[in-house]
Amino acid sequence: MNKIAVLTSGGDSPGMNAAIRAVVRCGLDKGMEVYGIEKGFEGLLDGNFKQMNRYSVGDILQRGGTVLKSARSERFMEPKWVDHGAEMLRTFGIDGLVVIGGNGSLAGGAELSDRGIKVMGVPGTIDNDLGYTDYTIGFDTAVSTVIDAISKVRDTSSAHNRTTIIEVMGRKCGDIALYAGLAGGAEYVVLPEKPFDINEVARKVIEGANKGKLHSIIIKTEGSPMTADEMAAYLGERTGKDTRVVVLSYLQRGGSPTMQDRILATLCGSKAVELLAEDSDSKAIGTVNNQIVAYDLKEALKQKNYFDEEMYRLIDVLSK
Ligand code: F6P
Repeated sequence: MNKIAVLTSGGDSPGMNAAIRAVVRCGLDKGMEVYGIEKGFEGLLDGNFKQMNRYSVGDILQRGGTVLKSARSERFMEPKWVDHGAEMLRTFGIDGLVVIGGNGSLAGGAELSDRGIKVMGVPGTIDNDLGYTDYTIGFDTAVSTVIDAISKVRDTSSAHNRTTIIEVMGRKCGDIALYAGLAGGAEYVVLPEKPFDINEVARKVIEGANKGKLHSIIIKTEGSPMTADEMAAYLGERTGKDTRVVVLSYLQRGGSPTMQDRILATLCGSKAVELLAEDSDSKAIGTVNNQIVAYDLKEALKQKNYFDEEMYRLIDVLSK
């Protein structure tokens, strides 16, 4: 394989740059020509290719965001545009593509694979919602950001004897809430994998206050049945506690990647190039039990996300 390309797609995540750097430098090391495609599948459709060299990816390892830019492409949802994307890659003589992104992006990659392009999927999303891999690139950094926020909110919540609802991202996956809740010592987590009963949350707040707790921290995933403001109004009334809302939003997507995200990104990027060099079929790359794995792309995307019941149980036990 002589010419390969790399793109980032969907919501950016810290560590995407580390993955791009690994793809470019490992590809060059194998004597390949490496192209960067700007703005994800949108850029692919517009022929937005630029040839990369070692220096194109200098000084980016430590940066959040993505130097290749990202986009959510409406056009790429339509089969005729996917055909166009595959033709565009052939026009540039590109034999293999590395797609760095979440489940929608890797599914887009699978569509290209159906049209004869060798595609390597690298899991880049803060959501940790790809079932075939234990962790996705950016998740660890996002959770660290949330934990930092919890610590700060806890200080002021205790000082004012308040309840605070912290809303986190994650779409249909509660992992950011789950990990941050356990690592940050939250009183309660509201997440899509578990039934939601606002009275249970109220009970937990009242029980805590009765035991002398100075604050209650509730972490909720975006998109839960009640909005954070609705929850705050209800809890405030039921518990008699001043209840405030903090929505962390895009703060969770930025920042310098942690060691774990940099290493995962680097190993996945390197593996993607290695597989392309071997002319392997399309694969989804990830990590299972601390080992880098590569599964058939389409099969991998069918795997359901694992929800850690024990972590969920411990959040309750440890915050009683
Ligand atoms: O998939 C990453 C993510 O940050 C989700 O957690 C969130 O729901 C979504 O992207 C937000 O997307 P956008 O950048 O389009 O607002």
